[in-house]
Amino acid sequence: MKNLKWWQKTSVYQIYPKSFMDTTGSGTGDIVGITSKLDYLKKLGIGAIWLTPIYPSPQVDNGYDISDYTAIDPAYGTMADFDKLIAEGNKRNIRVVMDLVYNHSSDKHKWFIESKSSRTNPKADWYIWRDAKADGTPPTNWRGIFGGSAWQWCEERQQYYLHTFAVEQPDLNWENPEVRQALFDAANFWLDKGVGGFRIDAITYIKKPKIFVDGEPDGKDGMVAIHTMTANTDGILDFLHEFKRKVFDGHDIFTVGEANGVAAEDLNKWVGADGVFSMLFEFSHVNLSIKDGEIWCRRTDWKLTELKQAIANSQAATKNNGWYPIFFENHDKPRSINHFMPKGADSVKAAKAMATILLTLRGTPFIFEGQELGFTNIAWDSIEKYDDIQSHGQYEIALNEGFSKDKALEFVHFFSRDNARTPMQWSADENAGFTTGQSWLPIHDDYKICNAAVEDADKNSVLNYFRRLDDLRQHSETLLSGDYEELLKDDEKIFAFIRATENKKVYVLVNFTLDEVKFPAEILSQAKFIFGSYDKNKIGVLQPLEAVIYEEAIK
Ligand code: NOJ
Repeated sequence: MKNLKWWQKTSVYQIYPKSFMDTTGSGTGDIVGITSKLDYLKKLGIGAIWLTPIYPSPQVDNGYDISDYTAIDPAYGTMADFDKLIAEGNKRNIRVVMDLVYNHSSDKHKWFIESKSSRTNPKADWYIWRDAKADGTPPTNWRGIFGGSAWQWCEERQQYYLHTFAVEQPDLNWENPEVRQALFDAANFWLDKGVGGFRIDAITYIKKPKIFVDGEPDGKDGMVAIHTMTANTDGILDFLHEFKRKVFDGHDIFTVGEANGVAAEDLNKWVGADGVFSMLFEFSHVNLSIKDGEIWCRRTDWKLTELKQAIANSQAATKNNGWYPIFFENHDKPRSINHFMPKGADSVKAAKAMATILLTLRGTPFIFEGQELGFTNIAWDSIEKYDDIQSHGQYEIALNEGFSKDKALEFVHFFSRDNARTPMQWSADENAGFTTGQSWLPIHDDYKICNAAVEDADKNSVLNYFRRLDDLRQHSETLLSGDYEELLKDDEKIFAFIRATENKKVYVLVNFTLDEVKFPAEILSQAKFIFGSYDKNKIGVLQPLEAVIYEEAIK
C-alpha cells in the first residue's frame, strides 16, 4: 500500500485497563488480563493498543494522576507482566502504546512532595507556584477543568500552586530544563522496553503565559475557564520540538497528541514533516453538544451538517499535513450511539452505522473498548453513584448555574465519563466475565445480551460487523489512502462521502435517522454494492440507520 507506515494501515484499540479484564478477583482489570485478550484483538484487526495510564497512582483521576513515571501500579501487576505483554503483542504484530501525562503529576509524586516542602529546596520550581493576591485570594480567577479554582493553597510554602485539572494534579513547570529532561528520560525508558508509541495527554497546557492575569468571568462563580487563559501559549512548539528530538526521533513509533483547540490552519506546525506528532486528537466533532467544550450544563443541539463539516475540515486539514486519528469515543466521552444517534435508535443498527464511518474515513481508526460490541451509556439515579471526578465537578457547576438537582443529573447522564468506563462485557456469566470479585464500577445491565461471547457467535452482531469492515478497510488501497470527497453535503439526514484513488471510488452512505430516506441513486454512478448493515439494500433508499458501501472501478 502506497508508502503508508504500519500505524496508518491498522486500527488502534484503546484499552481502559481498570475496566478491561480482571484475572485476580480484585475487581479492577490488570495487565495479565490484557495479554489474555490479545487474540480477541487480533481477530478484530488491531495493530496497536493504547493503554490509558498504568503507572503508580492514587487514582484520584483514574491514573491520570501519576506518582511514578517509570513503574507499574501494583494494582495492574508487575513490570514482568508488562514485558510479557510487549512480547506477546510482538508475536501477534500488536504494539503497545503508552499514555504520557506530562502537564501534571500526582500531588503524591516525590517531586511534588519535595517541591512543596519549602521555597528553597532543589525542586522548589518544578511546579507552578505563586503568591496570593494582597487579600489572600488565589493569584487569578481561573477555573480548573474539573470545576473550582485552578489554584490550591499550600500551608508549608504559604503559596498557591496551579492545577489545570484536579487539586491532586499539580502542573509541572516545563520552563525548568531539569523537569523537561526528567520527563524525556521517562519516555525513553518506555521506548527502551519496545513500546510502539505514545498518546500524549493534555499537551496544549504545558506552556503557561509569562504574566498571569484575571480573565473576564464566564460563569456565575466569577471565574473564567483556564483553557481560554493558558492553552496553546506561544512558545509551546519549542518545548515540543525538543521533546521530538530527544525522544521520538529515530524510532518506528507513532505519537498522537491530545490537543484541544489547535486550529486547522496551525496543524502543519503540530503534525507531519515539519510538525512534532504523527497525529493530533482534535475535538471539534465530539464537542458539538457543548460548544465551549467544557461546561456540561451548556449543552446544545447540533445538526448533522455540523458534524459532517467538522469531519470534512479535519479530513481536508490532514490531506497533506500529518494524518487523522479517527475517533468517536474515548474514556472521556459518552458512548457514540447516545452521542450521535437519535433517541430511541436500535443500538445494533446505530453501532453499525457509526462503525461504518469510523472505518471508512481517511486516517487511523481508534476503537474504544466496548465500542466494537455496541456499548451504550448508563444512567445511574444519584450523583453519589458516579466515580468520575469531572461528573461531580460538573454537577456542582450546574447547581451553581441555577439548575435543579434532577436537571444537573441529566447532564451527568449524558456527559459522564463513567459512561465509557463501565467494565468490558466478555460473556453472559456473572459480572459479565470481567471479574470474579466486586467490580470497581457497576457493570451495564445489558451485559447478558451485549457481550463478546454472544456476539462472537452471531454473524449479524456488531462485533462481527466491525471484524468484516476492518478487514475490508485493511485490504482496500482506496479506503486506506484515497482522498475524501463530500457527498450530499447539505443533507441533514444522510452522512455520505466518496473515497477516491486513481482507479477506484468507494461511496459510503449512512442514514442518521429512524426513517427510510430517499437519495438520488444517480450519485452512485456505476458503482456496485459491496457492504452494508442490512441483509437487503434498496436502490435509492436508505432504511432506518442503514449504512451502505458501494465501489466503482475508474477506467
Ligand atoms: C485528558 C484525559 O483524557 C482525561 O481522562 C484526564 O482526566 C485529563 N486529561 C487530565 O489528565
